[in-house]
Amino acid sequence: MTERFTGSFTQQEPIPDDAIEAAVAVMRSGRLHRYNTLAGETGEAALLEKEFAELTGAKYCVATGSGGIAITTALRAVGVQPGDPVLTNAFTLAPVPGAIAAVGARPIYVEVTESLVIDLDDLESKIGQARVLLLSHMRGHLCDMDRLMAICDAAGVKVVEDCAHTMGAAWNGQISGRQGLAGCYSTQTYKHVNSGEGGFMVTDDAEVAARAIILTGSYMLYGKHLAAPGPEVFERVKYDTPNVSGRMDNLRAAILRPQLRNLQAQCAAWNDRYRVVEDGLRGTPGLTVIERPEAETYVGSSIQFLLLDWSEEAVQEVLARCAARGVELKWFGAAEPQGFTSRYDSWRYADSPPLPQTDRVLKGILDMRLPLTFSLDDCALLARIIRAEVGAVWQAQG
Ligand SMILES: Cc1ncc(COP(=O)(O)O)c(C=O)c1O
Repeated sequence: MTERFTGSFTQQEPIPDDAIEAAVAVMRSGRLHRYNTLAGETGEAALLEKEFAELTGAKYCVATGSGGIAITTALRAVGVQPGDPVLTNAFTLAPVPGAIAAVGARPIYVEVTESLVIDLDDLESKIGQARVLLLSHMRGHLCDMDRLMAICDAAGVKVVEDCAHTMGAAWNGQISGRQGLAGCYSTQTYKHVNSGEGGFMVTDDAEVAARAIILTGSYMLYGKHLAAPGPEVFERVKYDTPNVSGRMDNLRAAILRPQLRNLQAQCAAWNDRYRVVEDGLRGTPGLTVIERPEAETYVGSSIQFLLLDWSEEAVQEVLARCAARGVELKWFGAAEPQGFTSRYDSWRYADSPPLPQTDRVLKGILDMRLPLTFSLDDCALLARIIRAEVGAVWQAQG
């Protein structure tokens, strides 16, 4: 009998009961706006920022309305001006070049390697072209962060990290988002904690933090923040930093605080699932598993593999055969952007010369979400189906 998978790739776990209770308490109070607090009361958003700063070891943290807002806030706060070039990954998702465009700046794309990380040789060759790198840890893959920081530090390039897919990850024991000048995270439903929409920016730089807090819309109520620098820092920046509004509210913060306390266990559960799929795929003829470096502590909330140098028709055949058996794979090689995939040549507001190395890798990348609603048996089944269908198409190709 042909095995079929019947799970949903978009169904995350329910919000935990303690988070629901905390949310209901906020709703009962009616004080959803983060600065709407009683005398002596500290709001959920301020407490969340303090707890996220502690979790990441950052001095300062600001919670935002989305991961994209966290990135635009960071870019503005580190000094990116309209018209500025900003280096970034050619393999990433649309909100990353979108954040650069949102501040009126212009992306310069850096090639991707077969390990799905930014190509550090290409970065080195382009480093003189910009003062800021927006580094996207796309699909949770961390590059050699020690070498990346050495390249950027030597050139005086500021690094903003997009950690939308690496909350809970680390490089050589250093928490993802803490090597650059600022780290940005997302709490959107498909990320590692879920408030529907939301995000964080962390930094150790007092002026970057003060600007970020004003940018997100603090109405000069920055004294109500806990993970913030002192008032003297705000005095220095408050007249030349615009209020762009992109705050998090107390309701979402209440939902997130209990989830943060459970983040480590959730990450371990993702990795258990990831390893089952990875083990099941390893050794499939024609399929390349992405080997993870020893220095990388990853969070396997999705898995990628390569059908490198396969024809488009053959990749499409694999996609169709897997879909027919209930396995939803996303392909970054499709000509048209669709459902959470897109490629640099579809961001036409930010023109780029062709990137042949990236084109080759994108044509071969297949991606699959691993929501925690999947059991380990589900993951073994997914791997069996992919292995069988990739194998069948590979054999037919001769
Ligand atoms: C790589 C990457 N960066 C940034 C973001 C932006 O996050 P948000 O959706 O919270 O704006 C996303 C969201 O999908 C993402 O995948």
